[in-house]
Amino acid sequence: MPAVVVIGGQWGDEGKGRIVDLLARKASIVARYSAGHNAGHTIVNHMGKFALHVVPAGIFYPEKTCVIGNGLVIDPAVLIEEITSLETRGVSTEKLRVSDRAQLVMPWHPMIDIADEQLRGVNAVGTTGKGITPAFADKVGRLGIRIAELADPDGFSERLRFVLEHKNRLLTRYYDLDPLDPEPIEDEYREHWSRLARYVTDTGELCREALRQGERVLLEGAQGTLLDLDNGTYDFVTSSVPTSMAAGAAMGTGISPRDIDRVVGVYKAYQTRVGAGPMPTELTDATGDRLRECGQEYGTTTGRPRRCGWFDGVAARYTVQLNGCQSISLTRLDVLDTFESLKVCVAYELDGRRIMTVPAGRRALFSTRPIYEEMPGWQTDTSRCRNFDDLPTAAQDYVRRIEKLIGAPAALVSVGPERDQAIIVDPII
Ligand code: IMP
Repeated sequence: MPAVVVIGGQWGDEGKGRIVDLLARKASIVARYSAGHNAGHTIVNHMGKFALHVVPAGIFYPEKTCVIGNGLVIDPAVLIEEITSLETRGVSTEKLRVSDRAQLVMPWHPMIDIADEQLRGVNAVGTTGKGITPAFADKVGRLGIRIAELADPDGFSERLRFVLEHKNRLLTRYYDLDPLDPEPIEDEYREHWSRLARYVTDTGELCREALRQGERVLLEGAQGTLLDLDNGTYDFVTSSVPTSMAAGAAMGTGISPRDIDRVVGVYKAYQTRVGAGPMPTELTDATGDRLRECGQEYGTTTGRPRRCGWFDGVAARYTVQLNGCQSISLTRLDVLDTFESLKVCVAYELDGRRIMTVPAGRRALFSTRPIYEEMPGWQTDTSRCRNFDDLPTAAQDYVRRIEKLIGAPAALVSVGPERDQAIIVDPII
């Protein structure tokens, strides 16, 4: 039974955690493959409401192995806090495993993240400030530190001093900040290792062995394809390369792309974005505020209000194709329940031309204007619908229009945050 990937098809926050939570039942391993604690997954289940940042959403199934893959950057203090908070609330982390190849977020990374944003001024990306991009930049620049180094105290000490020498030059001469002292960092990370050592292993081999045994591995994406470094709305993107594409899922867990047989894209029934950058269907008026309030669209990680707008069919069609999604999960349909009418972006206008693709250049990205099709709302509570046919006709039409526009069927439509508030059209796995 090969691997299944769950990816975000928009700018993140599509509700992937919830879909993973549903699909995890049928997998033996649930593995996160990208990003770091910039990500935030909200999960509501019989144990309560949880906000996860690094730990995979499968953690609520005690018999499943949950993997934090090599594609992540990990702040050990954050991971320990997340583990402690889960354990305190009765969620076992006994079967959690962390890749020995994952990179560490070090104390200089958030400092550089924040200083860089200040230097960018009006061009600031609106990062989460967690040090994610500097940590990935160091991985690519070969100045990163893998978590495996912590197992070798002398090796870690040597590596820390070597890297910090570079970083202190950067902090003092370029950013005008105080240098960091290696000793307290060394002590702090040793202490972290004493808590984390039991979880750290070669998770790539663990996943490959499971696949060899015919077990199902579920790969859990973070953020969304439009934040992808290569294919997103550059430079207003995140830095986990290529964070949300299906092949990135193989790279970030250490399995072969040939092991992936299904890619499920998760899309909100409307559009949201946190941070700066182009967003053609953004609504800066009362309708946008209404969407935000109906959907309680505030960031899980930073609490920032999310920018809201109508469903962008051009961007969604692009990300369905990029990822090779065979089907999608359409989330939060119920958020639209009270709207009298809805709009769907079916094409862009750029320099007087109608286009159906996402442009590459900055000026073009900011200048595209949405061409809308208007559809009637249903003004009926959908939160209790459990079959597609239970949905009001206008809601069915809305889902069908999106499917046609983006070229993928909706295997699942969610109508509320609870586990059972989902219409399963096709069981996916
Ligand atoms: P960074 O990942 O902190 O460098 O932030 C880069 C961009 O990605 C910013 O616009 C963030 O708001 C956005 N971003 C990062 N993580 C998430 C996420 O989990 N959901 C939504 N947006 C995110």
